[in-house]
Amino acid sequence: MMYYQILIGVLFISLVDADLLIDLPDGTIRGAETKTENYTYYAYRGIPFAIPPLGSLRFQAPVPNTPWDGILDATKSKDCCISMTYSENEPDQSEDCLHINVYTPPRNIAEKLPVMFWIYGGAFTTGCSSDSVSDPHALVSEDVIVVTFNYRLGLYGFLSTSDKVILGNAGLKDQLLALKWTQRNIEFFGGDPEKVTIFGESAGGMSVGAHIANKKSAGLYRAAICQSGCSLTSLAQTSQTNPKQIAYDIARSINPFISQNSEEIRDFLQSQPADVLTKAFNANPQSGPVIEVEDENAYITDLQFGLIESGNFNQVPLIIGTTSAESLMFLGIVLPELILAALAYDLNSEFLIPSNLNPLPGTDLTEAKELIKQAYTNQSFLLDLASFVEFTTDQLFVRSSLKQAELQSNYAPVYFYQFSYSGTISRFHTVIEGVGKVGHGEDVLYLLDFSPFPLTTDEEFLTRSRMTRLWTNFAKTLNPTPDVSDPLLNVTWPQVAGLNIPYLDIDTTLEVKPGKKAKEMRMWNEVFYSYGQQPFVGF
Ligand SMILES: *[C@@H]1O[C@H](CO)[C@@H](O)[C@H](O)[C@H]1NC(C)=O
Ligand SMILES: *[C@@H]1O[C@H](CO)[C@@H](O)[C@H](O)[C@H]1NC(C)=O
Ligand SMILES: *[C@@H]1O[C@H](CO)[C@@H](O)[C@H](O)[C@H]1NC(C)=O
Repeated sequence: MMYYQILIGVLFISLVDADLLIDLPDGTIRGAETKTENYTYYAYRGIPFAIPPLGSLRFQAPVPNTPWDGILDATKSKDCCISMTYSENEPDQSEDCLHINVYTPPRNIAEKLPVMFWIYGGAFTTGCSSDSVSDPHALVSEDVIVVTFNYRLGLYGFLSTSDKVILGNAGLKDQLLALKWTQRNIEFFGGDPEKVTIFGESAGGMSVGAHIANKKSAGLYRAAICQSGCSLTSLAQTSQTNPKQIAYDIARSINPFISQNSEEIRDFLQSQPADVLTKAFNANPQSGPVIEVEDENAYITDLQFGLIESGNFNQVPLIIGTTSAESLMFLGIVLPELILAALAYDLNSEFLIPSNLNPLPGTDLTEAKELIKQAYTNQSFLLDLASFVEFTTDQLFVRSSLKQAELQSNYAPVYFYQFSYSGTISRFHTVIEGVGKVGHGEDVLYLLDFSPFPLTTDEEFLTRSRMTRLWTNFAKTLNPTPDVSDPLLNVTWPQVAGLNIPYLDIDTTLEVKPGKKAKEMRMWNEVFYSYGQQPFVGF
């Protein structure tokens, strides 16, 4: 009798375990059944996709992982990449961080499932893919597979000597390798490598934008979603003013006798412990994609605006949009900050000029400043804070997103949204009458669970159901509203057609609205094409 029970027990355990063992080309992994709220799914966490980028691999393009023996424990998240802003709440970090996570519905569905590949944001200096910051169960419960992964940040991911010694963009090359890993491996999880959608927010959206603009990423995905950032956003290509100088300054801040020789800078910085490097970076914190010199291992060698404008990009369907008041997250945490920022813009009219306008030296911009200001207000920003929030929101993410929508729609279907739903988290910044309430990043909470800010109200859960339905519909069919009779959505989201940009306003209801910022965009086009130099760096 005893034996019989033990035997049954062993059989049962091995049957359950067998479901969560997967043979990949590199070796076998064991995942874990995971329960959240009302949903149970399978998670395979911390699978290495590259050799740890240590020693002479630091700052360099990632090298694909080598096979392992035995069963790899993929039940727990592994370390995040080293973030440039240390905070006690952040999970464990190390340079050995190039891991990927795959989350699947629990059933074995005969049909291969669409795949959603998430690229986190965080200004290319912070971010992680652990469950505590991006638990994807709400998306997975709509029968898609979600992939999350880590890419290197700050100087580990973006240091460049502007030559072949350290090309730069190692972090984007991590993303590219993770996409290639997904192509090669996802069918073993039940995923369809032909139906990969890449999505990301902020620096993650700009990363999605880089993959859209880059033929080296062609064929690795068939659709894209840019949330508050895409190919034309300023930081996507101009966050390091002079990469070689930055690399030199970082090295010199540790060793004042270092020369400007790139090999010497590389060898010295590769020999330093991580805490010394991170500290040196924070004294000079510029990070993000750079234009590399021509090389077979280079990823970005061209400005993205020209590629998108001319159609020389991966012409995939796109969902793109922003939140209703992006800048509140940066300027409006407390009212005095917002007031001081408005005053600074009133006193310094050059702040009105876009950082990526790039006018010819000596150009008189007096009239351009007037055009810009008058499109938003005829008062001071100090007396019209709503216009100030509107203006800074457009400067940060809306203008570049609308331009991308316009240009990309000449070649592929494009859907524009504005996320206006103000949930519990909107309480964490100032709310100004007469303008949107939703700051940068709040949309992400309705796709991926972020444990420091759990959703609480029925309305928040309804918003999450709608967001995940729209996003997964797009991943499945390339159309976010394919079923007119779906009562959850009850809307048909129209495509962008060039300068005509209707958009879906995602608020307590879903509503299609016409001509997003048409008047402001006419002005911005006039300013860029009259005063900027082409080819534009961004928009
Ligand atoms: C879980 O299911 C119950 C019963 O259907 C429901 O009342 C509850 O709102 C659900 N919880 C969440 C977080 O969706
Ligand atoms: C400011 O005044 C100009 C000229 O009268 C007008 O064209 C513009 O629409 C006004 N701007 C706003 C935001 O009302
Ligand atoms: C769908 O929207 C229309 C208006 O656009 C409204 O009249 C109708 O009641 C809505 N149906 C549902 C099921 O919410």
